[in-house]
Amino acid sequence: MILFRKKTDFQTYLTTQKQRGKKIGFVPTMGALHQGHVSLIESSRKDNSITVSSIFVNPTQFNDPNDFKKYPVTIENDINKLEAAGCEVLFMPSVEEIYPDGVPSDLKYDLGYLETILEGKYRPGHFQGVCMVVHRLLDIVKPDNLYLGQKDYQQCMVIRRLIELTGHTEIKLNICPTFREPDGLAMSSRNLRLNEEERKTAPAIYRALLHIKENLPKGDLLSLKESAVKKLIDNRLKPDYIEIADADTLKPISKWNAGQKLVALAAAYLGEVRLIDNLVLN
Ligand code: PAF
Repeated sequence: MILFRKKTDFQTYLTTQKQRGKKIGFVPTMGALHQGHVSLIESSRKDNSITVSSIFVNPTQFNDPNDFKKYPVTIENDINKLEAAGCEVLFMPSVEEIYPDGVPSDLKYDLGYLETILEGKYRPGHFQGVCMVVHRLLDIVKPDNLYLGQKDYQQCMVIRRLIELTGHTEIKLNICPTFREPDGLAMSSRNLRLNEEERKTAPAIYRALLHIKENLPKGDLLSLKESAVKKLIDNRLKPDYIEIADADTLKPISKWNAGQKLVALAAAYLGEVRLIDNLVLN
């Protein structure tokens, strides 16, 4: 695996590869890699001649400075995992390399409704930060294919919108399924921050979503949502939200006509760690 830290060296390399007709797949990450990331690398390897990944813990997307400080960093392990998965190229820039003029304060992506609901509501500024870094990374890599995990359902929708807004419409967005531990917990870099007791409790978030999926009634969904929230609280999780929404627009659905495709989404704190998960329901 070739490792680049400087944008210019990385771009020179990519330009040569593109001139040789190589198809580029891109898996952006913030490190602390797990099997879910590995599956994204594997998907990219199937569709492309070169798979590029990036590791950059992007400061602009952390609305909570403590969350940024405590974000797990496991670089050596990450490099080994990427190499074992067959990733050809890794970009690991510094903050100065990505934001040479500091963080732009005037840049605002028009994400519309997506920015005001669910993660947008509970993590103000988060998606602007995600867009800021992904925009820069896409400008640098200009991949044929981009790979993201469905675990960050709303982020996938935001990045789809970013691709439109920035005119990078030649990039195909591939959304890959969530990877789960045997007990159902969605794999996430933040799981590394759970203590032993919390780790045992954490799958309650998945079970609450499964409860919604298995009991989905036609008509009013309010009491089902309430019972799912109760399941979290009973397990000492502190929910930010549990929502049932249209799978394509993320508009909340309170009465279901059995026709719409639905997704259930949840975010909850376990101690200091904020977990998110989702399940497509039908
Ligand atoms: O999902 C992530 O790991 C990050 O939000 C991303 C897409 C790499 C941007 O920093």
